[in-house]
Amino acid sequence: MFTFKLNDQHELPAIGSGTNTFGKENRDYIGEINYDTTPIESAIKVGYRRFDSAISYRNEAVLSLGIKQSEIPRNELFITSKLPGREGYIESREQVIAAIQSSLTALDTDYIDLYLIHRPWDDMKQVLMVWKIFEEYQQKGIFKSIGVSNFNEEQLQYLIDHSDTVPAVNQIESNPSNFNDELIDYCQSQGIVAEAWGPFHKMSDHQIEVLTEIGKPYHKSWAQVLLRYQLDRGVAVIPKSHSSKRQASNLDVFDFTLSDDDRQKIKKLSN
Ligand SMILES: NC(=O)c1ccc[n+]([C@@H]2O[C@H](COP(=O)([O-])OP(=O)(O)OC[C@H]3O[C@@H](n4cnc5c(N)ncnc54)[C@H](OP(=O)(O)O)[C@@H]3O)[C@@H](O)[C@H]2O)c1
Repeated sequence: MFTFKLNDQHELPAIGSGTNTFGKENRDYIGEINYDTTPIESAIKVGYRRFDSAISYRNEAVLSLGIKQSEIPRNELFITSKLPGREGYIESREQVIAAIQSSLTALDTDYIDLYLIHRPWDDMKQVLMVWKIFEEYQQKGIFKSIGVSNFNEEQLQYLIDHSDTVPAVNQIESNPSNFNDELIDYCQSQGIVAEAWGPFHKMSDHQIEVLTEIGKPYHKSWAQVLLRYQLDRGVAVIPKSHSSKRQASNLDVFDFTLSDDDRQKIKKLSN
């Protein structure tokens, strides 16, 4: 698996599987947890070794179950989870520690490869308090890498200015309707790996048409073209699919090269 080197020297698998509807009734984000591990097992079978979960997804235990059934050793997997940036999780040291422990228990692991603050909130001093606890967990080796999600430039700069650790990753929305180019440039200028959530969100027919045309000479789908574009510019991706076939195709993006002209056309899709 192709990887990006993080600023803490750990390697981040460049493509991971999103999970936010896995193990849920009707594949619905707010659906009841049904412990269906099918999409996790199929993802592992077609080659995924990285999974993106979160306390808010309520499916860390489903992920752990799917992983166990695969019998892949823990050290060959890369697991991300996230602390919700909301009431009940962030108001005191005790709450943060209890939430982290709940992730470790649900994932049934003694370490997490990458732990993120899921989203920022207004009180940056409190965000910093949480970040300092993340630093402690990283020092203890319980978190291998620490990062954030949905942080803007000012929020990232605040953490950089007030702590000893530059976030390794900022997981943000990036897709043709909102590539988030400026924020990605800023992250990369600070040594932060930008990672695209919702890489296929809000795709218009026109965007799909343009990407489909670009992919034709390479025998690649619009989705493969889009993932390759992100990877080429150093952006990690976490596409999610419940279909084993589409899971496999989302990994099969390294046997073609986009031209400069292709890349220009894709960049312009955001305008
Ligand atoms: N940090 C955050 O705030 C945040 C927010 C949102 C999401 N995330 C993370 O990012 C992950 C990905 O985002 P997402 O799940 O919202 O959306 P996504 O990956 O952009 O899109 C998922 C949709 O695309 C379809 N799809 C997948 N591969 C395809 C392909 N090759 N061709 C055509 N359609 C394809 C899927 O349908 P099928 O299942 O039918 O294939 C599904 O409907 C999440 O699962 C979650 O882990 C993080």
